Amino acid sequence: MYALFFRQVILRMSTERAHHVGVAAFRWGWPLVAAARWLRLMPPAPVSGRVEALGTVFPAPLGIAAGLDKDAVAVKGLWLAGFSHVEIGTVTPKPQPGNEQPRAWRELDVRGLRNRMGFNNVGADAVARRLATLRASAVGRSALVGVNIGKNKTTSAEDAPLDYAYCARVLAPYADYLVVNVSSPNTPGLRDLQSVAALRPILEHARAGAVEAVRGRKVPLLVKIAPDLADDDIDAVADLALELGLDGIVATNTTIGHERGPGGLSGPPLLSRSVDVIARLRVRVGADMCLIGVGGITTADDARAMLDAGATLVQGYTALVYEGPFWPSRINRQLAKR
Ligand SMILES: Cc1cc2nc3c(=O)[nH]c(=O)nc-3n(C[C@H](O)[C@H](O)[C@H](O)COP(=O)(O)O)c2cc1C
Repeated sequence: MYALFFRQVILRMSTERAHHVGVAAFRWGWPLVAAARWLRLMPPAPVSGRVEALGTVFPAPLGIAAGLDKDAVAVKGLWLAGFSHVEIGTVTPKPQPGNEQPRAWRELDVRGLRNRMGFNNVGADAVARRLATLRASAVGRSALVGVNIGKNKTTSAEDAPLDYAYCARVLAPYADYLVVNVSSPNTPGLRDLQSVAALRPILEHARAGAVEAVRGRKVPLLVKIAPDLADDDIDAVADLALELGLDGIVATNTTIGHERGPGGLSGPPLLSRSVDVIARLRVRVGADMCLIGVGGITTADDARAMLDAGATLVQGYTALVYEGPFWPSRINRQLAKR
């Protein structure tokens, strides 16, 4: 059914237009999603799928990765569709338009996507207002929301820690966890911030911002890394995360290791590298740290491979585009069965 809709409707739209239509469907269609859930067309995962992590209980392993709901407009719909957590963002301190269009492409032969969006978002203050409204509703209070934060394009590398501190301060009050994103390939120089020397002050500033804003509750702090880091650099980030007492690592973002044109590639071609990165991180950080595995997960077997490699939780984005709105509920139920 969705395959037909994908071919006849979605493929007739540009990738970016289809994205907006999809987000709008989750945004405005959340009561329909709630009804589908109630009618058990999109049943929640059974309790056997629950995962304890980051100081809370996730109803299942699979959540929606950052980048789909950059401005936190569709959290209710995504949550009710069966994602165990919704990572919004990347959010920057000031609003910014992102790169010029076209900036997203389908890679149909591999069921992948390629994008160079460049952190288009409405900015931290506007997202904080949205999240405040969301948290005032019953569904919004129950949803587990991660907030992925970044720096504005015009902010220099030296001032980057201040951008992360600002976002953490403004958004931590509404977040179940925060993710410092230093791994998008589409903001010039951003990935250089993954070096330990640059990353340390960013993580320290982000944590200070969160602690200043939220007293009496610890907001877990994670860092999201690229699949294109050399193994030694992955180890260095893992060591820094341990040293700073970080709560987790999200691995991975999109890859620039391809020859399909500009932007980062997502979807199935990423899976094996992302699984390898998670396996490497798990050995390095030990058993306790939360690792969120993301990159190319389409089937329950893919998700299981990520979990077996050492991931605590998993996320997906590209497969939602190709598999449709019943995908999260289906995968999370299959994961709970095994
Ligand atoms: C169109 C698009 C936009 C994205 N935007 C962001 C973003 O703003 N922040 C971020 O951390 N990751 C972003 N990502 C990366 C995803 O969160 C994820 O790490 C990556 O797509 C790999 O997962 P997947 O293969 O399941 O899509 C984006 C991915 C896509 C396809």
